[in-house]
Amino acid sequence: MVKGRTLDQAFNISPKEVALELGGLPDNKIHCSVLGDKALRAAINDYYTRNGMTDKVKKADVKVICQCMNVTDHDIEDAVLEGARTYLELQEHTKLGTVCGQCKDEAEVLLEKFKHIHFGV
Ligand code: FES
Repeated sequence: MVKGRTLDQAFNISPKEVALELGGLPDNKIHCSVLGDKALRAAINDYYTRNGMTDKVKKADVKVICQCMNVTDHDIEDAVLEGARTYLELQEHTKLGTVCGQCKDEAEVLLEKFKHIHFGV
């Protein structure tokens, strides 16, 4: 998928594109496409770092949703891709919301958002 693309273009390949290129993936294997695009981004950033182009290293925008358990929006997305469909399943995957519970509303919004993005539900 990356052949013929610039590093910037390759960096922006999404898990959805990976899954489409593979002809689709069963729901319980969608997380595999996330691992691939994460590894690609890490490799590109490593290349930039090793070649003195640290100004080009791109950090993903990550937002901590659960301060108590240090769970980010990316962790929630990964949990959805790994099969979490309900708030309880999200808690089982990430442990978010298990201390003060103040993150519940935002976590539920993200849960629905990522279910819609990745599975159309
Ligand atoms: S902020 Fe998530 S449990 Fe406290």
